[in-house]
Amino acid sequence: MFDPAFASIFPRTTTVSGGRMSIAGCDLQQLTRDFGSPLYVFDEAEVRETCREYVASFSSRYADVEITYASKAYLSRWMATIAREESIGLDIVSGGELAVALAAGFPAKRCHFHGNNKGEQELREALDAGIGRVIVDNFYELELLDPLARARGRPQAVILRLSPGVDAHTHAKTTTGTLDTKFGLPISTGAAEQAVVEAQRLGGIDLVGLHCHLGSPLFSLEPYDEANDVMLRFAAEMGAKHGFKLREYSPGGGFASQYVREKPAPPVEAYAEAIVSSFLRRLDEHRLPRPHLFVEPGRSLVARAGVALYTIGARKEVEGLRTWVSVDGGMADNIRPAIYEAKYEAVVVNRADDEPVETVTIAGKYCESGDLLVKDARLPRTVPGDVIALPASGAYNLTMASNYNMALKPAVVAVRDGEARLIRRRDTYDDLLATDAWGA
Ligand code: LLP
Repeated sequence: MFDPAFASIFPRTTTVSGGRMSIAGCDLQQLTRDFGSPLYVFDEAEVRETCREYVASFSSRYADVEITYASKAYLSRWMATIAREESIGLDIVSGGELAVALAAGFPAKRCHFHGNNKGEQELREALDAGIGRVIVDNFYELELLDPLARARGRPQAVILRLSPGVDAHTHAKTTTGTLDTKFGLPISTGAAEQAVVEAQRLGGIDLVGLHCHLGSPLFSLEPYDEANDVMLRFAAEMGAKHGFKLREYSPGGGFASQYVREKPAPPVEAYAEAIVSSFLRRLDEHRLPRPHLFVEPGRSLVARAGVALYTIGARKEVEGLRTWVSVDGGMADNIRPAIYEAKYEAVVVNRADDEPVETVTIAGKYCESGDLLVKDARLPRTVPGDVIALPASGAYNLTMASNYNMALKPAVVAVRDGEARLIRRRDTYDDLLATDAWGA
């Protein structure tokens, strides 16, 4: 029997009938036959539903709020279009992300430009497009931005990214709120105060607010309260000392998603409740008027909607030690297990009701020993041609994918009401050569 504990990891439209798994009425093994393998499947209803949950849970508690999707988690014209239709803003971190958003007709004024080393050319492009907010990370950027904005005859709305000195206890590679990080202006060293003074002095800068982001993913809610306290205390101090007015504020993103059965993530409602109640309490404590609030979910908006499908090939058994089952993808499309030891579940989609009978390690096909997708997965006995699904693959897989070993990046389909639409075709060998300029 299909374990019902998978229900909260796969998209809500997932069904199993006669041992075959479908999403939004599309049979998953059949999708790999129609579109090739490996294949990424996004459930449109799941993305929209989650967008709506975010909007409803935050705006029911605080009216002046905006959900700004951190598009580094997954971006394509399809995704940007859904965000626009669901009244979600976009957090972009490069000229490339901005270009994709604009190509989808996404309004630049609803984009926030983040990053710790934005290039001058990227800043020019963002200003020319009419970017809504630049989230300034350091003094170098203030100096780059000021003349660019003045040359265009209007000050740029800017939010300062601060480093509040709050440890969110995430994976060391994804923690960002502490003092020892490349991101943001530290409050404790006085750099943040200096930046407030400088930003208020510069004619090309309209300093509208403050931002922090603690890391990703945060399974516990307390760090948001700690951050709100530090950040809003600082805002009040800057008001008293330098006449600073906090018009906009963000405690960032970092909301967790469920990857494996034994580690559920807090629901969106829990984050909304914790963040908004702490925000209101801290505003009162520090006697601040209520600013515009924005939050930046990335992972949690798309992780559950995306499922990776791989076809099983080779099998290697080392008696008494380990059995490897290799699939046709791996670290080139999902590097997360290799770099964060990220854990995933695996389900054989064409025998989803079969009882697990063995423990195997699901390996990728790339030339590295670390190219594993799932260590010690419990699976039914599989044969080549079986298709496995790794749920919670919608965030940070495709956007961190590479062409390692000249791998072809996989196709992506969006499924809805029994229909599958190609939203990204698989790379071709010609794509691999398209940028090779030698001898051209
Ligand atoms: N806001 C800022 C300023 C960020 O840097 C990030 C993520 C987010 C929001 C969204 O965080 P989320 O809600 O997705 O947790 N590659 C890693 C995650 C890196 C996150 C980078 N910044 C992973 O695969 O786990």
